[in-house]
Amino acid sequence: MAQPASQQLRLVQFVEQLPADRGALVLPVANLEELPTSLRDLTTPERTAIQRALETSEFNFSSPGKLSLRGIGDWQQVVIVAVGEDGRAPDYERAGAIAGRALLSESATVTVIAGAMTGEAVSNFATGFGLGEYRSDLYRAREEGEGDRGAVTVVSGSALLAQSIYENRGRALIAAMNWTRDISNEPGNAVYPEVFVDRARTAFSGVEGIQIDVLDETAMNELGMGAILGVGRGSERPPRLLVVRYTGPGTEDDRPIVLAGKGITFDTGGISIKPRQNMENMRMDMSGAASVTGAVLSLALSRASVNVVAVSALAENMPDGRAIRPGDVLRALNGKTIQVISTDAEGRLVLADGLSWIERNLDAVAVVDVATLTGSVRGALSNDYAGLFSRHDWLATQLLEAGDAAGEPLWRLPIHDSYAQDMRSTVADIRNGSTGNGGGAGTAAYFLGEFISRDIPWAHLDIANMAWSGASDWKPDGSAGFGVRLLDRFVREFEQSMPNGR
Ligand code: BES
Ligand code: MN
Ligand code: ZN
Repeated sequence: MAQPASQQLRLVQFVEQLPADRGALVLPVANLEELPTSLRDLTTPERTAIQRALETSEFNFSSPGKLSLRGIGDWQQVVIVAVGEDGRAPDYERAGAIAGRALLSESATVTVIAGAMTGEAVSNFATGFGLGEYRSDLYRAREEGEGDRGAVTVVSGSALLAQSIYENRGRALIAAMNWTRDISNEPGNAVYPEVFVDRARTAFSGVEGIQIDVLDETAMNELGMGAILGVGRGSERPPRLLVVRYTGPGTEDDRPIVLAGKGITFDTGGISIKPRQNMENMRMDMSGAASVTGAVLSLALSRASVNVVAVSALAENMPDGRAIRPGDVLRALNGKTIQVISTDAEGRLVLADGLSWIERNLDAVAVVDVATLTGSVRGALSNDYAGLFSRHDWLATQLLEAGDAAGEPLWRLPIHDSYAQDMRSTVADIRNGSTGNGGGAGTAAYFLGEFISRDIPWAHLDIANMAWSGASDWKPDGSAGFGVRLLDRFVREFEQSMPNGR
């Protein structure tokens, strides 16, 4: 397999005074009234030209977008980006990403005039800029010198504060997001369970407070993890359970928050094979595992004071002479037997063993699993919200808040008791597909809930509709790295509920 290109980012620095250098100019603006402050240090002709361009272009300040201008003073180009009027973190980040992406093929230096933005907002903008530089064309030939881009200088009255937030949290988030998006975007012939593990080891090498453990198929056999082993049986590439623990400063005695990820490195559907249309996208079916591991990477790189574990249930779902068949019965780690109705409902199988392993081995304060689990979640929520399922209201509330604040919104859906009927098997304890037209995303959540004790606060995020999308002003097509920002924030702000609190 050819080596993928690595992400190349501009250097970022923060200063208080406008430098003399005239490369590209980026102007984040919230409204016309605020503009004069941002333009204060420019020449009068530059100011007039920019103001006139904005007035005549009917630029919409409130929705994400940009206006690129040429021929302003000595600038190579001027990019105006709307930051919205609400001043929320995701808005600054989105605006930054639009600028970063707009300037991908600009080799000159970049000056950002941050105007009246707070230090936090400036850092969010710079972080977004870095995220916007992400490229998903990992295997396309690079032109010579293509990655050599000038540095970014952010001009702000709060330069010092912005710099410290950015260097601590922003850079960590960008590195983690890039790791998550790269591994999700990469093809199935490059990334299979063992490679996922190797990539994680590389990403975390030298990072303080990290411990990595891996279960291979021999260990799984000994433990009786028949569900994940069953899914992996059709593949030449054996399954793995990857456990990345991060113990932040002062949290040695804390119980961990555990994040579990579905890590199907390619989902053909197995014997219940998928139609050929868009099947290539199923290389992203390990996005849950990529996001939980990426979130822990972000937390660890920024030395957050949290105790968190990412558990990735990794397997490849292939059809083969040895593959599991519809009707087969598997025994999961917790002893429950599962009748396989569809070998394409494999995510819940690997997570069944993942969740049981977590219950048995980690004394979690809360468990949140993240999975590209069902096509049906798109039918319910389109591309606006990922699905959130939980029997614990306080946990659901904290996840909803984190998602909202991070710009990765969730919508809570029920795990109705009636789903038990849909998942009832005549030969085994449970079946992996509903009997009729039961709610696809909900019955999948119900299934997962059968593999973790109801006493453990648990939530499930179905991100099948959010993990992957087409290109836009702020991202290339492919992985969105959905979940990294949400989980990073959720873990940082986590508050344990009262004992027995719902
Ligand atoms: N990986 C798929 C879900 C998926 C679909 C993710 C589209 C991203 C985009 C999952 O393994 C799957 O195949 N789910 C089936 C479940 C069904 C067989 C019960 C589905 O949703 O159709
Ligand atoms: Mn499937
Ligand atoms: Zn799948």
